[in-house]
Amino acid sequence: MQRNIHRMAEFFSEGPTKLRPHFKAHKTTEIARRQLAAGSCVGLTCATAGEAEVAAGFCEDILIANQVIGLDKCARVAILAKSGIDIKVAVDSELGVEQMSKAAQDTETTVGVLVEVNIGFRAGTPPGEAAVVLGRRISDTPGVELRGLMGYEGPAAGIEERDRRGTMAKQALDRLLSTVHPFREAGFPTDIVSAGSTGTYDMTGRMDGVTEIQAGSYVLMDTAYRKEGLPFEQAFWVLGTVLSRPSPGSVSADCGHKSCSQDHGMPDVRDVPGATVTFLADEHAMIAVPPDSTLKPGDRLQLVPSHIDPTINLHDVFYALEGDTVVGIWPIEARGYAEQRMAMG
Ligand SMILES: Cc1ncc(COP(=O)(O)O)c(C=O)c1O
Repeated sequence: MQRNIHRMAEFFSEGPTKLRPHFKAHKTTEIARRQLAAGSCVGLTCATAGEAEVAAGFCEDILIANQVIGLDKCARVAILAKSGIDIKVAVDSELGVEQMSKAAQDTETTVGVLVEVNIGFRAGTPPGEAAVVLGRRISDTPGVELRGLMGYEGPAAGIEERDRRGTMAKQALDRLLSTVHPFREAGFPTDIVSAGSTGTYDMTGRMDGVTEIQAGSYVLMDTAYRKEGLPFEQAFWVLGTVLSRPSPGSVSADCGHKSCSQDHGMPDVRDVPGATVTFLADEHAMIAVPPDSTLKPGDRLQLVPSHIDPTINLHDVFYALEGDTVVGIWPIEARGYAEQRMAMG
């Protein structure tokens, strides 16, 4: 993990583009503090108001890289702004502007906003004139302050083959960057143009006009990103115990899909030659093993997750290792829904 953090910080030390690590990947204060301490960072990216509330405990510059909808959630963002956090949210609609404006005015504060441009994925205004129209709406609205632009080239980030990933990232980013000039012409700020991911950090991160990269997974990695041949190492595993050896060719272990996500495919088994996860049930991982494998009930094994974010969200703590020694137990503070925990006292 430390090597991953330093590799990424070093890449962005050259500038001018900086790093805004995505907190949603791990949701853990101890890890985010290390990312910020390594340098080259402008602040943190969060996905939700709940993550931002946790991150605000140790970071003063936060971007929620999604539109926040719902007056209750907007109010939570406004409270962070009022407490002195330089918080920004993405918006792509009149409703997003109206609700954040109302919450900010009710709280007697101002919340920063970035216009999200649709660069081929799940959200955003069309590029160009439509983004300028929304920018004007924001400029004319009390309680919100226009700070720049953002876009997220999600589909490009997941492409294994590097050249094709680069072509897709460029096509996506052209849509965002073509909006920078009309934005400036309209007199709007462009000191924040936020985009990027682990898969495209060294492509998008060197494009003129992009000011910061929202990479998350690089810090701990997963098997989906491993296939892209990135210079980051696997740095977390799910520890399980073999419960049964129902046949010479299989074992079951106590780490099913309640402990390891499967939306990006089956996890791998670490350091057990020939072992393959064939099925994840609620509580059990079914693992095919060579008949001469020595694995037996009571043995420990480690799964290598295929997708970092949803796997980590299933757990309460990380056991931090240096070599084979546990040197810390780090709470995953922003996992789940903090407001529900608060409601339960
Ligand atoms: C808005 C946004 N930015 C950036 C990322 C990049 O994250 P990663 O580096 O883990 O691919 C994500 C991931 O889903 C995202 O939703």
